[in-house]
Amino acid sequence: MAKMTPEKNLKERIKELTCLYEVSSIIVNNDFRELDKTLYSIALSLRKALQFNKHATVEIVSDPFHLVSSTISKKTVFIIHNINVFNEPKGFIKIHYPADNYTKKDFLVEEKKLLKTVAINVGDLLERVSIRENEAVIKRKMEHADRLSILGEITAGIAHELNTPLANILGFAELLKSKEPENTQTSRDLDKIINSAIFSREVVKKLMFFACEMPQNLDKTNIVPVITDAMNLLDPTFKKNDVKYQVDLPEGEVFLKVDTIQLTQVIFNLVLNAIYFSPKNGVISVALKETKNNVTLTIADQGPGIPAENTQKIFQPFFTTKAVGDGSGLGLSVVHGIIRSHRGTIDYQHNDPTGAVFIITFPKQ
Ligand SMILES: Nc1ncnc2c1ncn2[C@@H]1O[C@H](COP(=O)(O)OP(=O)(O)O)[C@@H](O)[C@H]1O
Ligand SMILES: [Mg+2]
Repeated sequence: MAKMTPEKNLKERIKELTCLYEVSSIIVNNDFRELDKTLYSIALSLRKALQFNKHATVEIVSDPFHLVSSTISKKTVFIIHNINVFNEPKGFIKIHYPADNYTKKDFLVEEKKLLKTVAINVGDLLERVSIRENEAVIKRKMEHADRLSILGEITAGIAHELNTPLANILGFAELLKSKEPENTQTSRDLDKIINSAIFSREVVKKLMFFACEMPQNLDKTNIVPVITDAMNLLDPTFKKNDVKYQVDLPEGEVFLKVDTIQLTQVIFNLVLNAIYFSPKNGVISVALKETKNNVTLTIADQGPGIPAENTQKIFQPFFTTKAVGDGSGLGLSVVHGIIRSHRGTIDYQHNDPTGAVFIITFPKQ
């Protein structure tokens, strides 16, 4: 190692201070959408501060980021410092020299201090990123919930308005039909009116579910057999579609205040969607878990999952990507309404590596 003259010492200190200044300006000017660029600039700046910067490589690793200032030699000597985010190690910064020409002694004490300071700065930055992301998620969720509840109110209004005329159409059509001999053209036409009215009444009923306007029969129930029964009823549909399933239930009983019929409806709607989107021989996993305050029911499939641009829309009435005639877009709306009227929540997550996961959380109250 070359002897350090006072001039050289001074030059090194200036390089280190310049780096600190640069790193703080990089962080101030950080664009949260381009965090990788920020980290890369920090790596370059840190590299410039080193005594033998031409041969040094700075590596910054913090999932999902992995940035290197230049290619790393096969064998290196290095110094390392953790990046802590909320007091938890979330990656590290490493400074390497190729082991062929350097030893650990080539790192200056000041450089180790500099590494530590930069690592702390990067940790602070990542903390701010994480706070920002959480805020954005919460904000998006609240906006989403707001939009759905406004939609619920409008829907409830429309559904109520339609109920009476629909009942009249159905009632009078049935009355006319009872006066008409069988098998005439008029009787067949009346059948069409009756069937359409029944179909419309079903749509209105589903909208009422979405708007949480359906009467409920809440009873403290062990929901384990409710799930098993629903899966048994669905078994033939699984077989018909060449889809497999596994059910993961707790050993004992799980009591929850629910409307059993509505809970069954939730399972049906979610599982039927999962089957529809499953590949041949795909596996659908249904799991029930009990924690101190909550009961969660998870339904996961291995289909294509839901593209990001649709995840905000899937609970809205009439949103469907299924072919015309295959879907009404009301299944998840009904599910959402039922869960909400049970004071629970439903969330969507992408399955790894592919598929949809719906997570329902009921408070144990
Ligand atoms: N398991 C799933 N995998 C992929 N997409 C799904 C899944 N479940 C729901 N979706 C998406 O959400 C949309 C709305 O579902 P839903 O409200 O049940 O209506 P429908 O089944 O009539 O289309 C579906 O058309 C589809 O785009
Ligand atoms: Mg559906």
